[in-house]
Amino acid sequence: MRLKKIGSDQPMSSQNELPSLLKVARGESVSRPPVWMMRQAGRYMKEYRDLRDKYPSFRERSENPDLAIEISLQPWRAFQPDGVILFSDILTPLPGMGIDFDIVESKGPVIDPPIRTQEQVDQMRPLDPETSLPFIKTILKTLREEVGNQSTVLGFVGAPWTLGAYAIEGKTSKNYSNIKGMAFQNPQLLHQFLGKVADSIARYICYQIDSGAQVVQMFDSWAGQLSPQDYETFAQPYQKRVIEKVKQTHPDTPLILYISGSAGVLERMGNTGFDIISVDWTVDLAEARQRLGKGVKVQGNIDPGVLFGSQDFIRDRVLETIRKGKNQGHILNLGHGVLPGTPEDNVRHFFEVAKQATSLI
Ligand code: CP3
Repeated sequence: MRLKKIGSDQPMSSQNELPSLLKVARGESVSRPPVWMMRQAGRYMKEYRDLRDKYPSFRERSENPDLAIEISLQPWRAFQPDGVILFSDILTPLPGMGIDFDIVESKGPVIDPPIRTQEQVDQMRPLDPETSLPFIKTILKTLREEVGNQSTVLGFVGAPWTLGAYAIEGKTSKNYSNIKGMAFQNPQLLHQFLGKVADSIARYICYQIDSGAQVVQMFDSWAGQLSPQDYETFAQPYQKRVIEKVKQTHPDTPLILYISGSAGVLERMGNTGFDIISVDWTVDLAEARQRLGKGVKVQGNIDPGVLFGSQDFIRDRVLETIRKGKNQGHILNLGHGVLPGTPEDNVRHFFEVAKQATSLI
């Protein structure tokens, strides 16, 4: 069952050319920075909310390929971003590791019981994506067919620390007192957990690439909650463990690393081996480029709150960010996900300005 016949009405002039986001990710130059938005599919879109009313279960929306494909393509049809991201969640692979979850309306992710004991960590199993995530293959394969070479298909995963922040807290947390309590009282247990997750996530990235993802972004959204010292102990080694495994078998797929609130660990992020560092808005993009050095590509970094400003304001910020990125290894994006309640017209304006940027800068 397909919900609707989809497809872009863009001309198929450049049949054999790589899409621009993939070009930039591979170090080639382009006429303007490619643009997409983290969380571009979701609640700010009326089309998404209507579908959610019909299919209230998040697990169903993200695990039924027809629904997930349709949701990924909603922003593609509306704005033609240069990247189309898989509609899923960072928690989606957890059940395949033996950790069940649900996403509850207005509460967010729930993991019950949360992982707190040695026994629970011992019971975790290595992810076998072919058997536990078959829908991911269908979704990514179909997205590639639908967008052709007009856009780049992105996969994504959560990093071990951030997945731990949900699995160990049991829900969205403000203070991370359970996972930090484990880190500072029983680090061995946390390291076992993080190591197991890292190995499963590495397999999952390879599976996404084999299924059609051309670029994969790792979200370590809550690693910015750690001091630099603890980032080096509990987050960075596992980011590296994942990337090293993936690069062994899939060296040519560009990988992006995102952390929210990363200003204090930016240089350390640059040392992980990721090809592209996704920068949030607490850092000036030109300064971020300097701090990261010439070889590192960047993504970002407009405050999602800017989309609540006037259209002139949005335009100024988009152009300023493009100037700071110098169109050298820069993928234009927000500094974090687009927020629920964002006016769709402002998202459209953001994309329009970004796409006209060659003539405007
Ligand atoms: O970018 C895209 O369009 C793909 C969509 C996407 C979702 N989750 C769908 C979703 C992506 C990239 C994610 C990743 C994700 N999930 C992250 C990393 C990104 C980030 O923002 O840092 C994190 C931390 C999660 C965990 C999670 N899942 C949270 C915090 C929430 C929101 C809770 C809430 O209700 O406010 C979710 C649920 C979720 N995942 C929603 C969506 C669209 C909202 C639930 C819904 O639409 O019913």
